[in-house]
Amino acid sequence: MISKKVSFTAMEHGNRCDNDLALEHDAENIQGQADRVIEWLKSMDGDSPNKISRLDHCLQGATRAKRDGADEETMICTLLHDIGDVICPANQSQAAAALLSPYVSEKTYWVALHHGLLQGYY
Ligand SMILES: [Fe+2]
Repeated sequence: MISKKVSFTAMEHGNRCDNDLALEHDAENIQGQADRVIEWLKSMDGDSPNKISRLDHCLQGATRAKRDGADEETMICTLLHDIGDVICPANQSQAAAALLSPYVSEKTYWVALHHGLLQGYY
């Protein structure tokens, strides 16, 4: 946990030390991203009107992708495609796509972004 604080209240008054402190914090935040994603996945193991939990649905999909010979990117996208439900159910596809976008191809991003539409259509 970082106990130091920057010296400014308006960014234009920041200095090099403030910037270094913010970068240090950002690096720690990025370091913990994978753990937070795992926690989000675990939180999807709650009650559901469906036969299986949202977590089981994601694990089932990723397992099926693996068994089908899908590449790693597709398996990860399948595993995380509904993770947006944790923080913003009304636009969960966009949230999942935003999470995945720095790490996946444009095609996979598109699939994540639009999977809610496909789900609604079918
Ligand atoms: Fe889904």
